[in-house]
Amino acid sequence: MEHQLIYVIDFGGQYNQLIARRVRECGVYCEVISYKTPIDKIREAAPMGIIFTGGPNSVYLDTSPTISSEIFSLGVPVLGICYGAQLMAHILGGTVKTADSREYGKTATYYDRSSVLFSKTKGLSDNDISWMSHTDYISSVPDGFTVTAHTDNCPTAAMEDSSRRLYAVQFHPEVNHTEHGTDMIYGFVRDICGCTGDWTMENYAKTAVAQMREKIGGGKVLLALSGGVDSSVAAALLARAVGDQLTCIFVDHGFMRKNEGDEVEAAFAGWGLNFVRVNAKERFLSRLDGVSDPETKRKTIGEEFIRVFEAEAKKIGSVDFLAQGTIYPDVIESGLGDAAVIKSHHNVGGLPDYVDFKEIVEPLRLLFKDEVRALGRELGLSDILVDRQPFPGPGLAIRIIGEITEEKLSVLQDADLIFREEIAKAHLDTDVDQYFAVLTNNRSVGVMGDGRTYDYTLALRAVTTSDFMTADFARLPYELLETVSSRIINEVKNINRIVYDVTTKPPATIEWE
Ligand code: XMP
Repeated sequence: MEHQLIYVIDFGGQYNQLIARRVRECGVYCEVISYKTPIDKIREAAPMGIIFTGGPNSVYLDTSPTISSEIFSLGVPVLGICYGAQLMAHILGGTVKTADSREYGKTATYYDRSSVLFSKTKGLSDNDISWMSHTDYISSVPDGFTVTAHTDNCPTAAMEDSSRRLYAVQFHPEVNHTEHGTDMIYGFVRDICGCTGDWTMENYAKTAVAQMREKIGGGKVLLALSGGVDSSVAAALLARAVGDQLTCIFVDHGFMRKNEGDEVEAAFAGWGLNFVRVNAKERFLSRLDGVSDPETKRKTIGEEFIRVFEAEAKKIGSVDFLAQGTIYPDVIESGLGDAAVIKSHHNVGGLPDYVDFKEIVEPLRLLFKDEVRALGRELGLSDILVDRQPFPGPGLAIRIIGEITEEKLSVLQDADLIFREEIAKAHLDTDVDQYFAVLTNNRSVGVMGDGRTYDYTLALRAVTTSDFMTADFARLPYELLETVSSRIINEVKNINRIVYDVTTKPPATIEWE
């Protein structure tokens, strides 16, 4: 796949992926590589620009990650960010010192807008906010450099040597809190490096389809389709490339949300692929009979899933390729990681051990999640699949606390559907990152009509999060909660009490099991 390339060289910064995403948002392809990558390899790849990430170390420690000074002689523009800025100063003969206190957070920053970098930054004024997070600072810049920004505490918030096309910023332009930070990155990659913006999902779809066609030839491909975004988009891309040489196996364990199994099946009708849906609800329910421990539930479902998949795969016989929906964040290796371990991500854990195939294909390996969604749209996948919120592999089984029965499953599916409908009606489905209902194992006394009831408590959970590692509970309007509550009580049997989960993660997790 031939695209103009920016290299993001990772020195262990926490924002390395964010930098890469920002570059991609400018329509420019980039890859995150380790600082240990040999210079010859970098030269060979002929990037149009290079960005150094931040990192947690001090440049003058022997053990700190560094890079050969040759990187600055390639004739390629370099932008150093935070630690990357200090490293540039240190290697080229400037001085880096440790301040008495850390400069952290939103900081008033004074820019010299005659600087090449800042003159290319749309909308920037002389005095804007940047996001700082550092203790070390550049106290004197190397020969040939000029200081192009400062703050009240930091004498060198930015520096550049425009004749060598070397630029450095102490702050983090990739973080939203830096005003016009994205414009700085845009100015760097598009104007200074000269990238034209050839990274679009339309181009990607065309080249990836051609590439998959060439690689697969007349071979057979097998894909485990979960209905999640990644496996669905991978299926669509492969269907476009090789049509009925692709077989998708969709194991419906019965714990999908209401109507979801049918929706997934319908979404792939007419794509020309072989679509096998295995309705295994009875089988899963009977294996889970009497099981209430969360971990046992998860393990049992995982194992059963593999068994069902394996049985179906055997009917097809040996295949040439097993397709996986691996995406770029699963592939990026930390610049500080010593072992060259690249995580092998399985949508359905452990499958390759059980299925007879020759090679793995991963058509989404270069893409971030938002790009996967954009590609899905480009390929014409329905919104239902492309905009799907994350859904755990074991499905509603881990949202029914205690033993799972068919009745409880149906109660939860109905209640969950009402919650989702009302969130959509309130146009909150894009603001809230994940929302669902949980059927607790708690029963309490209520009164309905003239009679006493003793029924289940349903919990509603809605969270906002950027990475699902931490999360906040969504501040849903009371009116919305009121509508959801009254609809569920009126329309769904066996629930007489509804509570809203107001815990953050941590200490809670997003799911209840
Ligand atoms: P927790 O509950 O750990 O969930 O805060 C974080 C995110 O991961 C999802 N999740 C899963 N996704 N298989 C998955 O593919 C699973 O077994 C699984 N368990 C939790 C969860 O929905 C949330 O988005």
